[in-house]
Amino acid sequence: MTTTLDPARLTPSRLADGLLSALGAREDRSRGFGRSAGSPLPGAVPLLGGAPSPDALPLEAIRLAAAHLTADPQALVSTLQYSAPSGITPLREWIARREGVDPARVLVTNGAFHGLSLVFDALLDRGDRIVVEDPTYPLIFRDLQHHEPELLPLPLGPDGLDIDSLEARLEDGARPKLLYTVPDFHNPTGLVTPAAQRERLVALAEHYGFVIVSDNAYDGLAFPGVDVPADYSPDSDLVVHVRTFSKILGPGLRLGYLVLPTWLVAPVTRLRANQDQHSSVPVQAIVERVVGAGDRPPIQGGLDGIAERSRTLYADRFDLVTGLLDAALPGGVSVEHRTGGIFLWARIEDEGIDLAAAQHLARTRFGTDAVLGRFFFLEDSADDRGRLRLGISHLDADGLRDGVDRLVAALTAPEARR
Ligand SMILES: Cc1ncc(COP(=O)(O)O)c(C=O)c1O
Repeated sequence: MTTTLDPARLTPSRLADGLLSALGAREDRSRGFGRSAGSPLPGAVPLLGGAPSPDALPLEAIRLAAAHLTADPQALVSTLQYSAPSGITPLREWIARREGVDPARVLVTNGAFHGLSLVFDALLDRGDRIVVEDPTYPLIFRDLQHHEPELLPLPLGPDGLDIDSLEARLEDGARPKLLYTVPDFHNPTGLVTPAAQRERLVALAEHYGFVIVSDNAYDGLAFPGVDVPADYSPDSDLVVHVRTFSKILGPGLRLGYLVLPTWLVAPVTRLRANQDQHSSVPVQAIVERVVGAGDRPPIQGGLDGIAERSRTLYADRFDLVTGLLDAALPGGVSVEHRTGGIFLWARIEDEGIDLAAAQHLARTRFGTDAVLGRFFFLEDSADDRGRLRLGISHLDADGLRDGVDRLVAALTAPEARR
């Protein structure tokens, strides 16, 4: 709708009313984490955050790669020019070798969110049905809400996805366009989808014709000794892999990639070219040097070497927090999936504790925070009220001790009882 604007009265709110598109004007109805509007208490040590630990970021590798790039004027000049929408060739070839696919199927993106958004744009019309794990990573709804999909929640229990219920719905005629899943170190639960469930899902996708969008944002972050089954087969025409360098090399790089089935390559590449043309070439060139693409040796062990340090660090922090909670509240907290990644999905066993009240106290009196489990669930479940997601990556051991002490104080405060 276009209204005539009176130039004498161009207040910001009148401009917004008169000029914003329907999408620009639409209120954000996506599910967030219910953060409080107030600022945290001074000196607060929140147990939040989905970013890598500052201690795990590969500062020296990035510095060496950038120095190598900037020492070569010709290479530097070419990184400052426009480039191909799919990404620079050596990096795409390195990714393709790692993924066991043709480089033509690789598209370098500005991180996992961007990859997801491109795939959703390419596949979804308004009202299309999509299957979403329940609980799931709620920030995907920021993008999904633009497509106004119909959500089909797929329960995720301690043993994984409830594929029987999905199969029953498919047999009953439900026809989803896609299924969104976080297969490894699931955010928030930490679950690693068992191999048999992955195989069954691919078989269902191929039978009923829906796309599995596998968001593997925590790829490479298995705790030492934890086995991860083979990924959804990239040989299937119904599997899209979404990956990112964010969690190992740093989210500020804004770099990730998609592995697409061949029929999706042209539409997704076209959408991407029309949007921002390509990812930053200097960033791609730095990551190319860190991982050791082309005939260069990787720097500091490359992606896997750098991930190795993160894996040990996060496993130690996970174990420290589990031990502290157990010591402070014996039998009062359980943690099902010690697998990898940077979160701890805790169940508070004492049903007399009102977690929302405890979280409010944690924020306003004790100076810590954690995300309430209910923000991750689509449907009410017996489980959602007793859960907290703790971020374990960004505090060192002393910080984690302090944060857990404060959280325990909030959980055990008389005002937190129902
Ligand atoms: C499951 C999941 N997907 C995607 C992302 C976003 O990744 P990126 O920073 O690469 O966009 C995150 C980050 O927290 C995540 O947890």
